[in-house]
Amino acid sequence: MKNREQVLFSAYIKDFLLANSSRNLFEYVDGYFNFASKKCNFNEIIKKYNKPTYIYDLSFVASRVGLMKKALGNAKIFYAMKANSNRQVLETILNCGCGVDVVSDGEIHRALEVGFTAKQIVFSGVGKTKREIEFAIRAGIYQINVESLPELLRISSIANSLGVKVDVALRLNPNIDIKTHPYIATGLHENKFGMEMSQLRDIRSILISNSQNVNLVGLSLHLGSQMLEFSGFRDALKILKNIFIELRAEFPGLERFDIGGGLGIIYDKANLEIESEMLNEYSKIVMQELQGLEIEIQTEPGRWLVAHAGVLLSQVQYVKKTRYKTFLVLDTGMNHLIRPALYQAFHEIIPVLEKPTEVRVKYDIVGPICESADFFAKDRLLPEMFQDDFVVILDAGAYGFSMANSYNLQDMADEICI
Ligand SMILES: Cc1ncc(COP(=O)(O)O)c(C=O)c1O
Repeated sequence: MKNREQVLFSAYIKDFLLANSSRNLFEYVDGYFNFASKKCNFNEIIKKYNKPTYIYDLSFVASRVGLMKKALGNAKIFYAMKANSNRQVLETILNCGCGVDVVSDGEIHRALEVGFTAKQIVFSGVGKTKREIEFAIRAGIYQINVESLPELLRISSIANSLGVKVDVALRLNPNIDIKTHPYIATGLHENKFGMEMSQLRDIRSILISNSQNVNLVGLSLHLGSQMLEFSGFRDALKILKNIFIELRAEFPGLERFDIGGGLGIIYDKANLEIESEMLNEYSKIVMQELQGLEIEIQTEPGRWLVAHAGVLLSQVQYVKKTRYKTFLVLDTGMNHLIRPALYQAFHEIIPVLEKPTEVRVKYDIVGPICESADFFAKDRLLPEMFQDDFVVILDAGAYGFSMANSYNLQDMADEICI
């Protein structure tokens, strides 16, 4: 069954993809798997293997930041650290000159520990607690992206008690469908995110009556994740641009436009050239729609910067044959990488040691967790696999370890950086 991500991508650049349908992000070198910048030594890594391990290629992360910076010109990048909050990954992104988008005080702490300054931090999220807001304000972060009227009032009241004025951006919900998986769509009325346009009149009056404590500096949007087609994004920018112009007449401090994150990647046949084309199209839309505003453009990419830079290494525990299925039972599961179980997401899975490909076997690739949703793939064709073989699950650098848990009291995965 094709999942939604694949279907949408095919619709977008079908002809181009069909003509160029080869994955160019991994290869076998001397019989061993390698990926991204091809700097890993899997021969050594598997000798020391202890448990499922995420492997991140830091130079590849840096190269993705470089590409995005080049495409988006002067836009300020605030990396959405929810995608991957590994310290070395964050350091890499910091060294590339980016800030971070955070959604909890835990993420603010992590950002500061790694060396980001408070002025490199934007705080998003629908459920900011009093403690978190107070901490963010005391730390002096760059901007709080406000997601509701009661949150705006709460921020104002905390700022008042601390005797300060806080820079805020309004996250607006334009009710636009970017045709992604429903669990990662965030820009529709049915979603909990952002503020409804019809509330603008109330928002204005709160901003005016609380002007001692809140300073409107920006508008923000984030329509969802894994966006592979940009017509909805363009529509949203048009809508917000008009509101921006209108509001700026009243709030002269309004000078930042946060376009959110969400740029998608290709999971099934990752191809960097095609992704570069998509990035260029995305940035062209941003430049076209926001030109002439004389503003600071901000962006919050997560997945696009880190997904291809990570793989999850795992070992086959059992090859379990029944009359109906052959199961490849791994030592990793939905506890370490929940995307397939949660979003029916596709991840390529391949053997670490190169194997002859003449024989292909259909496997259900599953984890050890006591849930039937704990599978990575069904009826996936692989070369014949045996107990103790190693596999890698590709494109696991985003929303992998950061969404992991210890359900069944399983150990967390290891993480290593190359
Ligand atoms: C507010 C906000 N910004 C940015 C992102 C990053 O999205 P992506 O990883 O798709 O770029 C998210 C992801 O959920 C988000 O909620």
